[in-house]
This record gives sequence, structure tokens and C-alpha cells, in this order.
Amino acid sequence: MLQGITQVIQIGGVNVLVSVNTGTININVPARPIPKLLTTIPFVDEKRVVGRLPIMEKLARTIEENRGRKSIQLAGVGGIGKTTIAECFLNTHQALFSHICYLEVKSTVKHALVNSIQLVDSLGLHDEVRGKSQTARFNLIVNRLQQLKGDNLLVLDNVSEETEHSDLYSALSLSGGWSTVVTSRDPLLNYVQVPVDPLTMEDAVQLFYQHYTFETDDRLVEEIIRMIDYHTLTIEVVAKTSELRIFKLAEVLAIVKKKSWVFQKDFPRELKLNETSTGSLTNTTGSYPEFSI
Ligand SMILES: Nc1ncnc2c1ncn2[C@@H]1O[C@H](COP(=O)(O)OP(=O)(O)OP(=O)(O)O)[C@@H](O)[C@H]1O
Ligand SMILES: [Mg+2]
Repeated sequence: MLQGITQVIQIGGVNVLVSVNTGTININVPARPIPKLLTTIPFVDEKRVVGRLPIMEKLARTIEENRGRKSIQLAGVGGIGKTTIAECFLNTHQALFSHICYLEVKSTVKHALVNSIQLVDSLGLHDEVRGKSQTARFNLIVNRLQQLKGDNLLVLDNVSEETEHSDLYSALSLSGGWSTVVTSRDPLLNYVQVPVDPLTMEDAVQLFYQHYTFETDDRLVEEIIRMIDYHTLTIEVVAKTSELRIFKLAEVLAIVKKKSWVFQKDFPRELKLNETSTGSLTNTTGSYPEFSI
């Protein structure tokens, strides 16, 4: 008889324990371990991120000081570099955390959470959430997150208002192990703010030359940067399009001066890259054809 035989076999890379006892076959599939990265983290080449080491260190300290108590906001105007810092931090500081969950918020935090197939899979909730309402799925996911031991990090990119997710934060912080970092343009109440300032002139010049190699003249580049108010995304777009259109630096400066490119406080909110091209600059008063490709 096969009685008492126990064997470990591999199915799809998973060790399965098969034992035969009193005529019955028991198959024991161990629960899949929950991975450290609950979702994919966007890759950022840290060598191309200029001038942000100090703020990443500050973020690490702020997380440590506020663990399980307060959520943290990377705060700043649109296009200043909040998402870049958050993503770069996740690439360089993974070792500090037991579990990491990164979600881009396109509508609401709840929507982002319940619709992340990756997160649901990582938490082993695939079968449990099937057919459930959004609220039931949300509760299941939050519950499972709460159970995760260790120092965990939730990063929510592009949060616009505080409502709707305060529930999530308080539930997670109750468990003691989660820290939450959000990026947002809006001033969010009750968050520990880590302000994202413009790059220093030295770093801004470096960023410009990262995308513009046609000519070198630090004095002209510095003047261009002052005209566009040290704004990170604008530096990138102006440099990239000037390179592609083979503009000389003097021409670039003349264009930004001619446009009397004065930044209003709300200007960056309207600033966006045209989705049909790689670099078209648009603001409330219209587009700048010189900087579209
Ligand atoms: N430190 C940096 N070094 C190099 N490039 C940067 C840096 N910071 C930002 N960028 C570039 O500037 C652009 C805007 O950055 P990012 O998307 O991070 O801004 P944001 O503050 O998140 O904007 P939004 O509020 O619109 O989400 C990106 O294309 C990014 O690659
Ligand atoms: Mg962003």
C-alpha cells in the first residue's frame, strides 16, 4: 500500500506537499508568501534625477519620525518634480521597508486601491474579491494590508483632496506598521508637509544640459532658467524642444523673453505636455508653438 507516503512535488515553481494516508490523498499547497513589492514600482534612473538627494533623505527621516501617526505630503506646484522624487525614493530606499505599495491616483484613492489587480493578487485576494462591491473589496484589501507585519510604505501619487481616503489612512495607521506618503499640488490639512522647492541654479543648469547638447553657454542658460522661473518641467520641455529644433541658446532666450514668460502662481497647474507630441507647452494664455514639436 501507498500508506504514509509523503512527497514534495513542484507545480509551477511552488512546492506542493502530497501525502497519502488511510486511502486518501492530501494535497497541501502552502499559501503564497506576500511579496515585498505589492505593486510595480516605476523605474527611475537615479543618475538622471538632479539635485534631489537632500529631499529624499528628509523624506526618509520624516517617515521614520511619523511612523504610524501622520501621513506625509510631498507638496508643490504642478511639474516641480513631486512624482519624480517619490518614484526615485522608492527605487533607492526599498531596504527601509518590509512591504511597499505604490498607486497612481487617477480618480479617487478608493478607486485606485480596489482596481489594482496587482495589489489584489499580491495580497492573495483574487478569489475573495470576485463579485464583491467596491466597498466590500476596499474593506478586504485594507484588512489584509493591516495584517502585514513590519515597516510598510504606501505611496499615493497625485492625490487631489483629503476626503475619501482619510478612512484608509486611519485604518492603516491603526495597525501601526504603515506610513503613507502622498504627492499633491493641493495644501492638504493634517499632513506633515515635505515641500518640494525648485531646483537650485546649479542643478537647473545641469538638467537643461541633460536635454540640450547643441551648445554650451552657462550664462545664457542661467538667464533662460530665470525667465522660466526655475520650473522643472518647463526647463525639460524648453531644453528638449530646443535641441530637436536646433535652436541656439540666444534664440531660446529671445523666445522666452519675447513671450514675457511670467509665471503666475496658478500657471503650472495648467501646464501640461501635449499628449500627441513629446513636448508642447501650453498654458492658460495659449500654447507656445516654438516649444512644440
Ligand atoms: N530632479 C529632477 N531631475 C530631472 N528631471 C526631473 C526632476 N524632477 C522632475 N523632472 C522631470 O520634470 C517633469 C515633471 O516632474 P514630475 O512629473 O515629477 O512633476 P510633479 O510635481 O509630479 O507634477 P504634477 O503635479 O503635474 O504631477 C518630468 O518629466 C520629470 O522627468
Ligand atoms: Mg506628479
